[in-house]
Amino acid sequence: MSLIEFNINKSDSGSLIAINEKLDIPFNIKRVYYIFDVDTESRRGFHAHKKLKQVIIALGGSCKVMLDNGYTKEEYLLNNPQKGLLIEKTMWREMYDFSKNCVLLVLVNELYDEADYIRDYEQFKSFLGI
Ligand code: TYD
Repeated sequence: MSLIEFNINKSDSGSLIAINEKLDIPFNIKRVYYIFDVDTESRRGFHAHKKLKQVIIALGGSCKVMLDNGYTKEEYLLNNPQKGLLIEKTMWREMYDFSKNCVLLVLVNELYDEADYIRDYEQFKSFLGI
């Protein structure tokens, strides 16, 4: 897992970031979704994916993301639209501490498929053979 820093075009009139598949992120983008209007008390995620990869970017506001590979957990603070969190397959994720105005953009390499989700932590461990 890693934070990707995107190139930024800054001028007196504002900033622009372009994300090109395969160039700025390591996969082809098949789906884009965004998460907003999240209550500051809410926690999201609580799942892993069997195959899917994604990059999450906080376009506005902030939130924390906990990633767990079954052995170790790491916490990331997303609060910068210039940085994307790359989440590879088979990572348990939990998102929390959303700021009031947080908007998350998510870039994904696959279409939505509920069969790719693992929503139970024990099943996640079994899937990993742990
Ligand atoms: P989910 O992936 O569980 O959200 P989070 O991990 O942020 O908590 O998705 C929430 C709901 O939205 C769930 O019912 C599935 C639905 N959904 C779609 O229909 N299409 C999509 O592309 C995504 C990501 C979710």
